[in-house]
Amino acid sequence: MIEEKTEKSELRQYVETHRQNIENALREHLPLAPLMIETQFNEAIEYALFSGGKRLRPVLTLLGAELVGGKSEAILPSAAAVEFIHTSSLIFDDLPCMDNAEKRRGKTSLHEKYSEGLAILVAIGFLNASYGLVFVNHIGMPERAVQAHFEIVECVGASGMIGGQSVDLALAKGANSSVFSNEDYKFESVRNLKTSALMRLALRLGAILAGANHLELAHLSRFAELLGNAYQLSDDLLDLEEDSAIFEAKQTFAISEGQEMAQLKLNNIIKEAKRVLIENFPPMEARSCLIQLTDYLAERRV
Ligand code: IPE
Ligand code: MG
Repeated sequence: MIEEKTEKSELRQYVETHRQNIENALREHLPLAPLMIETQFNEAIEYALFSGGKRLRPVLTLLGAELVGGKSEAILPSAAAVEFIHTSSLIFDDLPCMDNAEKRRGKTSLHEKYSEGLAILVAIGFLNASYGLVFVNHIGMPERAVQAHFEIVECVGASGMIGGQSVDLALAKGANSSVFSNEDYKFESVRNLKTSALMRLALRLGAILAGANHLELAHLSRFAELLGNAYQLSDDLLDLEEDSAIFEAKQTFAISEGQEMAQLKLNNIIKEAKRVLIENFPPMEARSCLIQLTDYLAERRV
């Protein structure tokens, strides 16, 4: 969960209030195999999901709903869906054929602990479970639920998470260097496609289910893109502090431009992201929380 060092901020209070509800929703909607066919699948599902994630994205989903006047309770299954998708993307990312990571959140990665085959099935299991969760509590609002469903499909697909993962692959060590002649790879929006797509989903899914209009959704998209870029940049800076060896294997802004430039860039993105919120949404708890969350990226340590 997100931690705040200073006095009790609205964000911290918000997270404390909703933490248990999010954990309950995750457990309630866990994609488990029936016992008669279960091998280690269920154990692996639990291992992947309950391993110390901050639950940032489900918090964003609840805040997205509240920002446009919705209530968070009805949105909880969709918030769980977003965390499922995030979990699946981390599993895919760590696979030997992708980043080949032995550790995730300081623990043995899923494929290392179980097997590559099981890790792939678990990741797809999470994705599959996410698609239907937008209909829970929204069966009486089919238009919103269908729009939310489409949002998930878009996020996961070739123009989102899967396309973004292919960019990550192209930027990985040992990738065919001819790909770097493509000018587009210089842009943050391309490099951070996967992260931004998930931020966009997290924020817009709640808002769509709460009945957001097109303008509100457009502003949320802009904020999400900036938040995604800031998040990825802060993650790269964190990696740089923690383990510079990681950087020999990746092409990131932080490594190509240096730590100082990256921090400066991060501060600018954060400023712009907050401006989008302040200029387009009225003052309220959800807006304050999102502003604090954006600020937290400048100095996050986990
Ligand atoms: C990791 O995200 C992947 C990135 C987008 C950099 P988080 O650091 O939010 O992952 P957990 O869920 O809290 O471990
Ligand atoms: Mg990380």
